[in-house]
Amino acid sequence: MKLNPFRIEEYYAKYEFSVQYMLSSSDAQSRKLVDLFEWEPTARKKLDDLWLGYTEAAGAPYLRETISTLYQKTRADDVLVTAAAEEAIFITYHALISSEDHVIVETPCYESALELARSTGATVSEWERYFEDSWANDFDSLIKLIRPNTKFIYINTPSNPTGTLMDKDVFVKLMALAEEQNIIVFCDEVYRELEHDPAARLPAAADLYSNAISLGSMSKSYGLPGLRLGWMICRNPEVIKKLMNFKLYTSICNSAPSEFMSDLALRHRDKLIERNLNILHHNLPLMKDFMVRHSNIFSWVEPQASPIGFPRVNVSEDIMHWCEKIAHEVGILLLPGSVYDQPRHIRISYGRSDMPEALHLLDNYLNQLAK
Ligand SMILES: Cc1ncc(COP(=O)(O)O)c(C=O)c1O
Repeated sequence: MKLNPFRIEEYYAKYEFSVQYMLSSSDAQSRKLVDLFEWEPTARKKLDDLWLGYTEAAGAPYLRETISTLYQKTRADDVLVTAAAEEAIFITYHALISSEDHVIVETPCYESALELARSTGATVSEWERYFEDSWANDFDSLIKLIRPNTKFIYINTPSNPTGTLMDKDVFVKLMALAEEQNIIVFCDEVYRELEHDPAARLPAAADLYSNAISLGSMSKSYGLPGLRLGWMICRNPEVIKKLMNFKLYTSICNSAPSEFMSDLALRHRDKLIERNLNILHHNLPLMKDFMVRHSNIFSWVEPQASPIGFPRVNVSEDIMHWCEKIAHEVGILLLPGSVYDQPRHIRISYGRSDMPEALHLLDNYLNQLAK
């Protein structure tokens, strides 16, 4: 298997723990363990007593039960728990795709979704979205990509990096097309429940179509990436079995403390989501004003979900260089769009509680440069 460098993660590894402000992070504000225990004081003692033997490969039954309640039509048996979404992406592509297959990947997307598809040796086509079209998904162009051996379509809504949602009509039509052509849909839903207007939420793919896999994670909407816990959910038992067999070669089973804490957090997820949406609703207007004040530099499609957006940047220098200069001189980390093969863009975020301070510093810096 040949894997190209994971540019997003390499860039973050270089700067994430040395800059003062993350103004591009893809996850919502995190919490301490102690905050979660406040919701269930008896849980602390239960964690102390937790048995640290191997856990059930598919995930603890109590956790799979809790995860299944996030969906309408699925049961605990339809859930496979993984070491966060990243393991799930790796497993899914390698368990379900062979080099004779054709795979369609919606882009721009989180890098591993494209790179890991390529690493299977399958033929990969990109279902591209464009800034000029407000990042909308063009259903007709998807139809043109379908081949007799198309096995699998990857989509991600709400989207990293654009923070936009797929149009509901397109989403429903895509599921119907996939069902008609017997294509598996892998829908990355790690930002589900972080729609800025909850009424805009799309149904989960796994609820709409039995050969769709919905991907979930503790990392993004819930802001708990340190738990390293995610899941796949699919109503087709054969698909779950193949994923499960592959997982026995990656992590075998999950971390018992992470399963325990994830279950606790998911049972109180309304509190996590409420706090994270409050932060977004406080910060997003500040970001919108900033975009207007610096409209000579930035233009963007306003995000509808998640803590991120993906503006186009109008500067004369290379944008990777521009972002690195800001990291060194101001201590603020922006993510250059070249890591998504979109070199005219940056990923910027508004999900952290220190975002107003960071934005103020960036504002001053850009004003100074303009003088
Ligand atoms: C769209 C998307 N999917 C999956 C992942 C992986 O998330 P994790 O492995 O932390 O659950 C990320 C991380 O940035 C992401 O943005």
